[in-house]
Amino acid sequence: MAKKTPAGWTRKHLLGLEDLSAGEIRHLLDAAEKFLPYATGRKPAPQRLRGRTVLNLFCEDSTRTRTSFTLAAERLGARVVQFHAVTSSLKKNETLLDTARNIEAMGLDAIVIRHSDRGAPEAVAQAVQCAVLNAGNDAHEHPTQALLDMLALRHKLGRLDGLTVAIVGDIRHSRVARSNLYGLTKLGSRVIFIGPPAFLEGLGDLAAPVETSTDLDAILPDCDAVMMLRVQFERHEGVALDLEDYKRAYQLTAKRLARAKRGAIVLHPGPINRGLELTDEVADGPQSVILHQVTCGVAVRMAALSLCIGALDRERKSAKSSPLTPPLSRRGRGSNEKTARPKGHRTRRGRRP
Ligand code: CP
Repeated sequence: MAKKTPAGWTRKHLLGLEDLSAGEIRHLLDAAEKFLPYATGRKPAPQRLRGRTVLNLFCEDSTRTRTSFTLAAERLGARVVQFHAVTSSLKKNETLLDTARNIEAMGLDAIVIRHSDRGAPEAVAQAVQCAVLNAGNDAHEHPTQALLDMLALRHKLGRLDGLTVAIVGDIRHSRVARSNLYGLTKLGSRVIFIGPPAFLEGLGDLAAPVETSTDLDAILPDCDAVMMLRVQFERHEGVALDLEDYKRAYQLTAKRLARAKRGAIVLHPGPINRGLELTDEVADGPQSVILHQVTCGVAVRMAALSLCIGALDRERKSAKSSPLTPPLSRRGRGSNEKTARPKGHRTRRGRRP
């Protein structure tokens, strides 16, 4: 029940990596590494979240992230409620915030949210009391994806400090690229965004300096890792892309990969457009860690849920023991009723103070 939460983690929300310190990111990765032996479910995990309830509030499609959060929470003993936007009362014009507040009123410890609106996770975090974890918002951030990428890199290459990581492809529409830029550079990696000019536009909102290149072949000899991104056709309004030109310059083939450093690894967050971003030979080859990334994802989400719910527990505990909110039994004569009432609380007669 989040009792063994490592000291020092104070955030009940995980909304992005932009605002986290290097120490906080390391803290999450170290916690995730301890969960790795339990990530496939073959070894029973400690029941840190027994009795807790997690809502998967997904308003965009997902295979990996939804399944991974579900398995992570359930293996730690939590109950997971699956929200499906297409069959919900969002279709009857209920707002996202009303949806979140109503489900929270049934008793929640955490909401995992994916949404096409960049502001949605932050708005929900402000509207509810429970923990909120961002599972991807528009092209903004996907913090647990970047953390699992970093865990896979650290696990396979032994370090993050001093690595050169190429992130290749549809950078412009990628929340994965943004979260990885924040996370990896804070832990000492060099990150280079690579793609055609049309995919390197729109990076003005980035809160970190970024190196870019249009020449994958020139950069590959420096690379310890190559992260290929999905071409996000569904977000391509106004982007003209010649697929044959794209493959000629950016598709990761075995021949091209041979230019990278010896032992370089290949990552892809999924889903893959097979035969476009990379060939089958590379996707399924010995340098690919794509399925290991997915396993790392369960460990990262176990850590993120445990840490955020642990911080929520401490907040709930300190609210309970605060002298401003004494238990009702202590509010007799002599207690300061005025200061004891939280703002907006109703009096016994139902009037607002
Ligand atoms: N990597 C990722 O976010 O995959 P899904 O869209 O399947 O969740």
